[in-house]
Amino acid sequence: MFNTIGVIGLGVMGSNIALNMASKGEQVAVYNYTRDLTDNLIGTTEGQLLHPYYEIQDFVHSLEMPRKIFLMVTAGKPIDSVIGTLVPFLEAGDVIMDGGNSHYEDTERRYDELKSKGMGYLGIGISGGEVGALNGPSIMPGGDKDTYDKVAPILTKIAAQVDKDPCCVYMGSKGSGHFVKMVHNGIEYADMQLIAEAYTFLRKRLDLSVNEIADIFESWNQGELNSYLIQITAEILRKKDEITGLPLIDVILDKTGQKGTGKWTSIQAIETGIPSSIITESLFARYISSLKEERVYADNILSGPEMDPQGLDKDLWIEYIRQALYMGKICAYAQGFTQYKMTSELYGWDLPLKDIALIFRGGCIIRAEFLNVISETYQAQPNLANLLIAPYFAEKVKEYQIGLRKVACEGINSGISFPCLSASLTYYDSYRTGMSNANLLQAQRDYFGAHTYERSDLAGFFHTNWQ
Ligand code: 6PG
Repeated sequence: MFNTIGVIGLGVMGSNIALNMASKGEQVAVYNYTRDLTDNLIGTTEGQLLHPYYEIQDFVHSLEMPRKIFLMVTAGKPIDSVIGTLVPFLEAGDVIMDGGNSHYEDTERRYDELKSKGMGYLGIGISGGEVGALNGPSIMPGGDKDTYDKVAPILTKIAAQVDKDPCCVYMGSKGSGHFVKMVHNGIEYADMQLIAEAYTFLRKRLDLSVNEIADIFESWNQGELNSYLIQITAEILRKKDEITGLPLIDVILDKTGQKGTGKWTSIQAIETGIPSSIITESLFARYISSLKEERVYADNILSGPEMDPQGLDKDLWIEYIRQALYMGKICAYAQGFTQYKMTSELYGWDLPLKDIALIFRGGCIIRAEFLNVISETYQAQPNLANLLIAPYFAEKVKEYQIGLRKVACEGINSGISFPCLSASLTYYDSYRTGMSNANLLQAQRDYFGAHTYERSDLAGFFHTNWQ
């Protein structure tokens, strides 16, 4: 009997993907570069359809044709090294899938290399963390459609299911699947930072306790803000530290790490001229957080305004913050989906925006109620330039901008920084400004550099002798 699929890389994510496949009836060959992880997985999962191999050629020869091999290996050089080890044992028609957070340009290079050997290569974005990998992640496959068709029955089976639809849809050619995952992570960074800013307002400005804030997040999760990130935030705030008895959040060091995907999202946006300010501010917020020692030092030297001693009307301001958070979220997703649209046009990918929103409804870290509305929006208007101008969102931000303006101003006046909430408002106000100040920039460029400018009333490029 041959195995139907093979998984290489048995860290937590790889082990859970293999277990997920086995639980859906696949015969799964498993292999890890070091023996211990294989033994560990097999030792703890007796009775599952997992079959361990300790030599790469045995692993490959155990697979039915065409061979389907899923890599769950650290992104970067390790992927190239595993592919290099595998290829001598593979044949034309076999399929390698990379389920890690690889950069989409690396995926395109690997795709070209394997295609020249007649093999299929899919870059597969996977979101959902460890639990998602085991119970059903959101899956974003990119590569040749006929290659995808060979593995689609397995991938759709292991994906999260929402309303009986699998959260796995073919994204497009070459690196598009990993690109979609990359921007998903950029949106994830922005979403997380927006939530952190709402928390800061509730904590520092409204002076609420951690428990009261957990109650607020729980109630928000019952409404239009319903999402995985809001839900886990409430759970995080309830958690007590076993050593001190304090809320665990209060003993966690305020210094954030990152693995690079959010940074890649900003770099790609900047290189291709896509305004991605909210996502980029969330990245910079992580960078400034990592300057912990400097911030503590500066805190003793630099001062902000005196906090207005007058209390704020709590119920009113909690509602303002809810509105600000929802509007910030709309703006962040508008930027992410604009990045999908503009890049798709640039590369001729034809990314299915409606389906991206659909597969983000389950399994992934940014799963949220309002992705249903985003999907319906793109269903009705596939070529929509920006989510902000779709009827539902235009109406929502018209109503909620009051909350965002109040919170952003209060942050400025009380000296609390809200990088993503402020960036959301700036994005909204810039995007809706029909007549901007870029005419002055053009005049300045022409003045000092003869860069020429266009006129609003005549076609062509003009230069003025300014002096
Ligand atoms: C997901 C996540 C995941 C990501 C982590 C860590 O969708 O499951 O996006 O892929 O790697 O969240 O990201 P950072 O370390 O960059 O925060």
